[in-house]
Amino acid sequence: MDVFEAMARRRSVRKYSDKPVSDADLDRILTCGGQAPSWVNFQCWEIIVVRDVQTKEQLMETLSKNNPARQAMVAAPVVLVACGRKGESGYHKGQPTTVLGDWLMFDVALFLHNVTLAACALGMGTVHVGSFEHAKAAEILAVPQQVQVVELMPLGYPEGDWPKGPKRKAIQDFLHWEKY
Ligand SMILES: Cc1cc2nc3c(=O)[nH]c(=O)nc-3n(C[C@H](O)[C@H](O)[C@H](O)COP(=O)(O)O)c2cc1C
Repeated sequence: MDVFEAMARRRSVRKYSDKPVSDADLDRILTCGGQAPSWVNFQCWEIIVVRDVQTKEQLMETLSKNNPARQAMVAAPVVLVACGRKGESGYHKGQPTTVLGDWLMFDVALFLHNVTLAACALGMGTVHVGSFEHAKAAEILAVPQQVQVVELMPLGYPEGDWPKGPKRKAIQDFLHWEKY
């Protein structure tokens, strides 16, 4: 599968089979994540791999009852917890260099996007989970103060049909030529 196919095919997968994710495939996917660009190549991402069922259950409880990704948190054989070291991305000598402050979310997102495409190319699904109690997840996983938990990402083989996903805007609905 080439990158064009992977981008077109990638969808949020929220139903997972219990087929395991091999260490070799996980390594390959995370290696693709690590190829992402980042601010001054700081690679401020820190990734926690969770396979333990009890930990996945605890993490599921950090999602609200109406979050559609709740079941995925326990059904997927792997949950990646994507974090970023604070105060590095977008900083020079301890000071933010742009009005946007800390760029850690941007860098972590680039890492995760590579992960989603690589997983898709290997026939696996992922879903970004951003809506959860971040402080609670950090406590469960013993994440240090200087590191920010950003996202939870279930990873595994989809159960049933590959999801269709919501429609996209037409390009002309977001495109501006020359000026806004
Ligand atoms: C930053 C971010 C946070 C998200 N958080 C959640 C979430 O908490 N729960 C969920 O079910 N989906 C979540 N999603 C998935 C989006 O709903 C999904 O990507 C969007 O509807 C487009 O569908 P598609 O991924 O299938 O193309 C999130 C996506 C992004 C990029």
